[in-house]
Amino acid sequence: MPSKDRDVVQLTWERQKKWKKSHEKRFRLVPIGNQRRDPIDRTTNEIILGDNLPVMQQLISEGLMGSVDLIYIDPPFWSGDDYFTKKPKHGSQVKVQEDKLAYRDTWDGGLAPYLEMMNKRLVLMKEMLSDTGSLFVHVDWHAGHYIKVLLDKIFGMENLRNEIIWHYGGPSPLKSSFPRKHDVIFFYSKTGTYTFHPQYNPLKDYLFKRARKNPDGRLWVDQNVGKISDSKFNELTREGRIFKTKTGNYRRKQFLDEMKGDMVDDVWTIPIINSQSRERVGYPTQKPLGLLSRVIQCASNEGDLVTDFFCGSGTTLEAAERCGRRWIGVDCSPMAIDIARERLAHLENVRFRCRKLVNK
Ligand SMILES: C[S@@+](CC[C@H](N)C(=O)[O-])C[C@H]1O[C@@H](n2cnc3c(N)ncnc32)[C@H](O)[C@@H]1O
Repeated sequence: MPSKDRDVVQLTWERQKKWKKSHEKRFRLVPIGNQRRDPIDRTTNEIILGDNLPVMQQLISEGLMGSVDLIYIDPPFWSGDDYFTKKPKHGSQVKVQEDKLAYRDTWDGGLAPYLEMMNKRLVLMKEMLSDTGSLFVHVDWHAGHYIKVLLDKIFGMENLRNEIIWHYGGPSPLKSSFPRKHDVIFFYSKTGTYTFHPQYNPLKDYLFKRARKNPDGRLWVDQNVGKISDSKFNELTREGRIFKTKTGNYRRKQFLDEMKGDMVDDVWTIPIINSQSRERVGYPTQKPLGLLSRVIQCASNEGDLVTDFFCGSGTTLEAAERCGRRWIGVDCSPMAIDIARERLAHLENVRFRCRKLVNK
């Protein structure tokens, strides 16, 4: 078992800089367009255009240090590719022009500049988390193992809660190795006390096939009564949870609406957004809402503040809004911000403002 005292193997790279926070204020955040310049109010959801490093520094100077409950990030994976917008699903409310550059994931100088970029940001993210907060970092086979070493150093190995495998499956033309069909999500808590709500899979189909219907419409399956006291038996009978079979034996009714499916483990099988998906907004590497809803539901409470500093098309923000959380999304791609704004604006009763980072 990892312990606090165990030596952490360190990752070093050329031109590695010790990350020091700069107190020099070179940037500020200003409203986009003709929005009102309301005073900062941390109950306001927001979408921010800009490099997330100075944006995080600005947010900290506005009082956000130690107050974020959950951070999910899906940064570039060091894939060596550039990403272009795709055709959104026909009828999508979000309007996107196809084949425009959305963001780059190409790095001059190999892995070092990528790790340098991630390291600084992960350090700041830890500072922004509340003491019961958690960080979920979504990566893949390209550089995920290096990112894990950085995270162990920053958060402590003892705070790694899960290495989640997101398995999305699907066809692949690859014949020279096994098709690569999963990403990895590292789940670290800031301390040993953190928010976690177990998640459950839906009930298995065979239970619905086997179930019988109560006069009030509730579905149930029968079970042994088991070893229970007379008073418990009488209580269950009063509640209509005991019935007599044709052969005169007593059985118990287990109502399906009171049952939970199996607990979700660390392999999550959730389909990727395909070209026909109704969710598709046309942003490359858009993640499914089901994936983000699960992250948000397991590691935050209603009203908590959820942030995504590489928010792309705003999937985390939409999932947070639907789950009743407050949210902030940041991205340096104007295209991502346009799509996220339009996407969020189509939700009912949503309130948010947009700002961008500018030089002072
Ligand atoms: C993999 S995509 C995120 C996709 C997103 N999860 C979604 O569902 O749409 C990575 C995003 O990180 C953004 N990004 C890269 N470097 C950044 C930086 N330094 N600051 C802010 N955003 C950055 C890119 O513009 C891109 O939108």
